[in-house]
Amino acid sequence: MKEPAAQIVGIIQVKGGVGRSTIATNLAAVFSLKKPTALIDCDLPQGTSASWYAVRKSELPPTNLTLAIARDYRELVSRAQELSREHRYLIIDAPPRIAEMTRAIIVMSSLSLVPLGASAAEIWSTADLLQTISEARLFRSDVDARIVWNRYRGNTREALEVSEAARKELGLKELSARLGYRVAYSEALARGLSVDEWLDRAAHTEILALAAEVKGILKETGR
Ligand SMILES: Nc1ncnc2c1ncn2[C@@H]1O[C@H](COP(=O)(O)OP(=O)(O)OP(=O)(O)O)[C@@H](O)[C@H]1O
Ligand SMILES: [Mg+2]
Repeated sequence: MKEPAAQIVGIIQVKGGVGRSTIATNLAAVFSLKKPTALIDCDLPQGTSASWYAVRKSELPPTNLTLAIARDYRELVSRAQELSREHRYLIIDAPPRIAEMTRAIIVMSSLSLVPLGASAAEIWSTADLLQTISEARLFRSDVDARIVWNRYRGNTREALEVSEAARKELGLKELSARLGYRVAYSEALARGLSVDEWLDRAAHTEILALAAEVKGILKETGR
């Protein structure tokens, strides 16, 4: 039987430092445990995902994970087409700010994840992303963009208030899986590993829950 086309998950945000590369690298590593997966780094010249992959390649035996880079949206579209033939999942690490590329990623993706920290500054800057999401809807009516809470401190009043405000202001759906503030995320990133491989139990549980929820959404929406 013919394998279905690759499912594309874009990790998008206009603000820098919110956790796009952390989520992209971890999801890519976890997905690749089961199916061939490609990680596409569109945030150049910084290239966090590409650097993570280079460290990984020098430390670990070959896996089911491929890396590609794309400098602009045309290159991204052509890379994605090539990679779709032999990969089940494409995970895209988007650049901050560049609306044209972000719009293309939203249109291509079955699901776009929007990492967000529970702070007012992050929520204000995410409001700018809403414009790009609505532009993407002109190209594709079934755009699906959802918040992933990162560095979430669920038991503080500030986190609860800010996330409630975000729900009202942004009007985006959110995933139930959330990532806490854990040093394991930066330690694993620096070593070319996922937190699953870095064996941090709490972070590992969060990332597996995130991966399972993303797969569930892809299955449910059938895209
Ligand atoms: N949940 C977390 N807990 C602790 N540290 C985190 C968490 N998420 C991300 N970080 C750290 O915060 C920094 C920024 O994260 P990351 O590189 O994933 O964000 P980004 O949105 O890709 O940023 P950039 O704009 O630089 O591309 C990194 O050092 C990362 O290790
Ligand atoms: Mg990054």
